[in-house]
Amino acid sequence: MEKNEIKKLVAYTAADTLIKSGMKVGLGSGSTAIEVVRRIAQLKSEQKLQNLMVVPTSLQTKLECLTLGIPITTLADPALKAQLDLTIDGADEIDPQYRLIKGHGGALLSEKITAYASVHFAVVADFSKIVDKLGIKFAVPVEVVPEAQLTVSRQLESLGAKVNLLMATNFAGPVYTEHGNLLLHAKFKSIEHPDALEKSLSAIPGVVESGLFCRQVNHIFVGTADGKVDHIQT
Ligand code: A5P
Repeated sequence: MEKNEIKKLVAYTAADTLIKSGMKVGLGSGSTAIEVVRRIAQLKSEQKLQNLMVVPTSLQTKLECLTLGIPITTLADPALKAQLDLTIDGADEIDPQYRLIKGHGGALLSEKITAYASVHFAVVADFSKIVDKLGIKFAVPVEVVPEAQLTVSRQLESLGAKVNLLMATNFAGPVYTEHGNLLLHAKFKSIEHPDALEKSLSAIPGVVESGLFCRQVNHIFVGTADGKVDHIQT
């Protein structure tokens, strides 16, 4: 089965299984999470989902919601009472304890705020995202205030990472996030203790957030190469 079809199947299965009318839902970013948005639009048009309160985690997701007629709000909306029922998002790597590297779409800050503000957190991914240890394939994205680019880089190197400033591809210069910050990509050989590293990264002055997500993942939907969806509930 082709990768895009797998992503769609996984996202549709997760939306059908977890999202109920009246829920407060965070919607992640990336090509798999965006299929959740599309499924919500379908279910709404079929009157199968009503009265959702939806919080998108990036401009990509916000625009998709607006294009498809899904009303959106933000975590600053008092009606949400600072908590969501559920967030569904993609991932770049998933380890055997269901810890994640995320943020290769650049939206890690809003994704993390939203995921950690949700009672239930669900991940949708294809089989290529499953790894034995985090950091084997992907760097950890680290969002930093521009002033701290070099000081944070130095501290990341002292933790054993090879560090690159993420550069834009279609205009000259670095990528700025939706929050006006820079992104460092910290490539570790492998990450032995993701929980400890997540805390260490947060403690570096100038780090806004890292793409290590070690909060409990409550549901994982993984699409297999032969077109099945494994649903793991933790
Ligand atoms: C977005 O910032 C990331 O956290 C995504 O969740 C991640 O890059 C997965 O994207 P795909 O679903 O496109 O692989």
